[in-house]
Amino acid sequence: MTKRRSQHWFGGQGKDAFIHRSWMKNNGLPDDAFDGRPVIGICNTFSEFTPCHVHFRGLIEHIKAGVLEAGGLPLEFPVFSCGESNLRPTAMLFRNLASMDVEEAIRGNPMDGVVLMAGCDKTTPSLVMGAASCDLPSIVISGGPMLNGRFQGREIGSGTDVWKFSEDVRAGVMSEQDFANAESAMSRSPGHCMTMGTASTMASMVEALGLALPGNAAYPAVDARRSRIARMTGRRIVEMVNENLRPSAILKKEAFANAIRVNGAIGGSTNAVVHLLAIAGRVGTELTLDDWDRYGRDVPTILDLMPSGRFLMEDFCYAGGIPAVMKEIGDLLDLDVLTVTGKTVRDNIRDAENYNPEVIRPRDKALTPSGGIAVLRGNLAPDGAIIKPSAASPALMKHRGRAVVFEDIDDYKARVDDPALDVDEASIMVLKNCGPKGYPGMAEV
Ligand code: FES
Repeated sequence: MTKRRSQHWFGGQGKDAFIHRSWMKNNGLPDDAFDGRPVIGICNTFSEFTPCHVHFRGLIEHIKAGVLEAGGLPLEFPVFSCGESNLRPTAMLFRNLASMDVEEAIRGNPMDGVVLMAGCDKTTPSLVMGAASCDLPSIVISGGPMLNGRFQGREIGSGTDVWKFSEDVRAGVMSEQDFANAESAMSRSPGHCMTMGTASTMASMVEALGLALPGNAAYPAVDARRSRIARMTGRRIVEMVNENLRPSAILKKEAFANAIRVNGAIGGSTNAVVHLLAIAGRVGTELTLDDWDRYGRDVPTILDLMPSGRFLMEDFCYAGGIPAVMKEIGDLLDLDVLTVTGKTVRDNIRDAENYNPEVIRPRDKALTPSGGIAVLRGNLAPDGAIIKPSAASPALMKHRGRAVVFEDIDDYKARVDDPALDVDEASIMVLKNCGPKGYPGMAEV
């Protein structure tokens, strides 16, 4: 057997091995921890500023238990945590920085395989990008979505309902007190946003790509099955190291084509486009904007989740999750693609069932017949633009209207409520230079 990577630090005799082992004994590790067993890095994006990950301290204990049970040595390491709700100017600005942090931490430390703990929007792509560049055996465990929001007898979704409530307050049909009460009712458990926003989309994408165990995307953060899958993930990464199963063997073009089709079926976020293109680039798999059109445009959206539809991630879990969706569209997928289970997609979804056809609809009752990402080109977007047809009103699919342009967010805030603003229902409102400006409370330098 070839020498494990970690043994280049911990194996043998002499000064260097002494140094590497001796300092590690600060962790309380016994001598046999360095006997050549797989060293598993657990990449933790815990941060109290990333509220979608506040439960990661508990979740990691299940991963560690799984690694130990399978005969590995689990070692946790922190990386930059780009949480969506707080980080300014925008978490997207830090995705590549975070991926560099992940890549250098993996490359520079004595580990043989990696568990990637992701959840909030940009954490999944940044971790996968960094790990894919290193190409050590890697597996993703998502933190899982929050429980459904519940307010005044009905279910409310992260993000989706905030905009509605805010408009209702402005229109005088919702009181300030109810608005304040809804704040606590929306985020009522640990976990990431429970609509089909970017976090749920990317958790679904890593499962569809074959980088996470089946069922990973939908178990709520507080469901005991989330802890169980964390434990199974810990066990599986040790086996993956022994099998030398690396991301480059999984992230083939066919796997991306599957993910693009699943994205269409779930009505996934348009942000998946930029993230999957970036991940593909890290393993040298050619993937283009046109591939999204080619593979995904005509896939029907069968998952009835907000913001396109009615339900939330907790309902998706009970309906069967991603394995049930992949089974529903199995004829559109390449079922022979290899996954982290060491088995094919076909094997992984063989026993999947759809337990709620209201949530995961039959194809002939699809939410949108052509639900994938559509790539648009024209004089306004010569390099291409994308649209998610399932989230657009039918009336917008072909539309002529006057553009009402705001130069930036300050211009928008100053003019949008002005009764004199020359706008009507056919107008297209355009916000240029969007995104919050600067860092509040910091001195200008
Ligand atoms: Fe973290 Fe939405 S703010 S997933």
